[in-house]
Amino acid sequence: MQNLISVFNSHRMSFAIIALASCLLSSPLQAQNAELDERLLLASPEAVQADAELLAHMNDLAEEAVDNHCAECHAEDLSGGPGVPNLVDFDWLWGVTGLEMTAVEPVMEIMQTITYGVRNTDCDDAIKMFGGCPDTRYSEMPAYAQLGMDEDMINNLVDYVLYLSGEDVNPFAVEVAADVWPVCTECHGEDGSGYKPFGGPDLTDDIWLYGGSGQEIYDVIANGRLGVCPPWGQELSAVTIKALSTYIYFRANGF
Ligand code: HEC
Ligand code: HEC
Repeated sequence: MQNLISVFNSHRMSFAIIALASCLLSSPLQAQNAELDERLLLASPEAVQADAELLAHMNDLAEEAVDNHCAECHAEDLSGGPGVPNLVDFDWLWGVTGLEMTAVEPVMEIMQTITYGVRNTDCDDAIKMFGGCPDTRYSEMPAYAQLGMDEDMINNLVDYVLYLSGEDVNPFAVEVAADVWPVCTECHGEDGSGYKPFGGPDLTDDIWLYGGSGQEIYDVIANGRLGVCPPWGQELSAVTIKALSTYIYFRANGF
């Protein structure tokens, strides 16, 4: 009997210790995190920036997600690599124009990219729109060689693209390519500075997604490109996606 009571008591004791420990450690922390999560989800980027506690929570969530999910392609410091954009240089492919009046719109654009991905085709064919899954960022840089454009014209266009970014090239090639350039403007803009709704890169700056040598530019124009960023809406929580978007926007702005 004595034994049974002590077994019972020691069980009760360890139960009490576990309960106390989880009360002290996880529950209040969880409650506190849930409260911070909710505040972060509702806060504007400006409000996050003005609140040290929210800012720290955003950094924690975003940095963990970058390490676990984004660094393998975008690099740990998010500076990107061949075919993968730098996320913190304020040179955007999708959505963000830099002309927005508040930080809310660009953060929403980045949230859309992260939630639905770029050129996600991993869904039922019946629900695809123009080849992409619903709400994913989608467009296609055509493969002009396969569309029948000859080598000379592609070479002239390479010169035209280099001319757009301020390089000294054969003026005759530029003149000839200028007649064909209108087929490019739908996605790259008339002046070549890009078109964010279609993810057409700015061709006038010295930032290259696929490399700025004549040969690399030739290869893109001849063979096209379909860069893919996975959708994260199923894998990451809403608050993590909000944290990542705000974090990326802040870092791109140099904060
Ligand atoms: C498998 C590689 C891969 C992984 C993993 C990945 N990305 Fe991407 N991401 C890309 C590529 C490639 C692009 C460029 C798509 C294109 O060509 O438009 C891109 C584009 C983006 C863009 C658009 C940038 C712009 O300039 O508009 C954002 C934002 C982005 N990724 C965020 C993320 C985040 C956040 C994560 C982690 C949660 C992540 N990506 C994980 C490959 C990846
Ligand atoms: C239907 C839209 C569309 C059209 C039309 C189009 N492009 Fe593109 N272009 C893109 C997209 C989107 C990308 C980026 C591809 C990616 O993210 O994988 C791109 C990428 C490029 C790049 C690589 C830029 C870099 O930073 O590495 C060059 C160069 C380019 N296009 C030139 C042209 C030229 C020249 C034409 C016309 C002959 C043209 N494009 C027509 C959508 C288009």
